Amino acid sequence: MEINLEESFQKKIDDEIRIEPRDWMPEKYRKTLLRQISQHAHSEIVGMLPEANWITRAPNLRRKVALLAKVQDEAGHGLYLYSAAETLGMTRDELLEELHSGKAKYSSIFNYPTLSWADMGAIGWLVDGAAIMNQVPLCRVSYGPYARAMVRVCKEESFHQRQGYEIMLTLSNGSEEQKAMAQDALNRWWWPSVMMFGPNDDNSPNSAQSMKWKIKRFSNDDLRQKFIDVSVAQAEILGLTIPDNNLKWNEARGHYDFSTIDWIEFNEVIAGNGPCNKQRLKAIVSAWQNGEWVRDAAVAYAEKQAKKTDNKTIAA
Ligand code: 3HC
Repeated sequence: MEINLEESFQKKIDDEIRIEPRDWMPEKYRKTLLRQISQHAHSEIVGMLPEANWITRAPNLRRKVALLAKVQDEAGHGLYLYSAAETLGMTRDELLEELHSGKAKYSSIFNYPTLSWADMGAIGWLVDGAAIMNQVPLCRVSYGPYARAMVRVCKEESFHQRQGYEIMLTLSNGSEEQKAMAQDALNRWWWPSVMMFGPNDDNSPNSAQSMKWKIKRFSNDDLRQKFIDVSVAQAEILGLTIPDNNLKWNEARGHYDFSTIDWIEFNEVIAGNGPCNKQRLKAIVSAWQNGEWVRDAAVAYAEKQAKKTDNKTIAA
């Protein structure tokens, strides 16, 4: 019986039929999705911190409004993704408890500091650029609620990438000092962005099964290579230099070759020892604690509204 269920489940996936919350699914599929979607949601939420750091110091009103909107969008992405994860049987409180206790992962990239205004440009261009490369294919994942959430997320990420690139373009066409700021930001954000795609394929324990289930559509290395290939031309337009002496077009492969990634740094960051891991977790936990009265007030208000509706129904 179990074998038939598994077989027909896999056939649905092979035939590109979406899996919906009430459909039968293998327990491991449910757990893999929960892990990926919750990590993704946590990344959106923690990802608000490095940029929120610059909202009050944006150089003009237009930049401030755009950055504020971007940070709000990230909060929205977190919420759609938590909702998608909840359809798999975990509550929002349980998901957040895993983030706050340090049990759940979130993207390595958000454990680096934002030291100058140019970092807002580099993050938009590279971090959101890498996110889009990874997330556009997720609009076609096999699980319906996740795929549908990703459609809107990707439209907004595309705006984020452009606002970042435009900041870089302005700085790199500005004074010598501004151009140097842009180059410094590129130097610091390049390798962490390349690492965002995760370990090499032969070191990625989840990839094979996730690809079979279409929870992932492309491998970590394929997406990383696409990102590097498109970024080179974008850096040329900016007149900036990607910090990799081994970056060279390989005619035979039809791709750029690049240096070996510093996997020691990556593993340290995901183990909790990156430059800002402790600071990020502390900020997230204290925001949760300080927001308790807001949550209580929202619940009290909802109860009051529900009572009013009940009274009206009785009177009618
Ligand atoms: N940061 C932290 N952990 C990472 C990571 C990264 N950049 N890359 C991989 N890992 C972790 C994995 O979670 C896994 O750990 P686990 O088994 O304990 O969960 C381990 O390293 C091995 O990696 P795998 O390649 O086997 O893991 P996955 O198959 O899950 O692939 C992934 C990793 C490519 C990140 C995949 O989970 C994915 O595509 N996730 C959805 C997208 C996402 O979460 N993006 C995060 C950034 S969101 C963002 O950037 C916000 C935007 O506003 C900028």
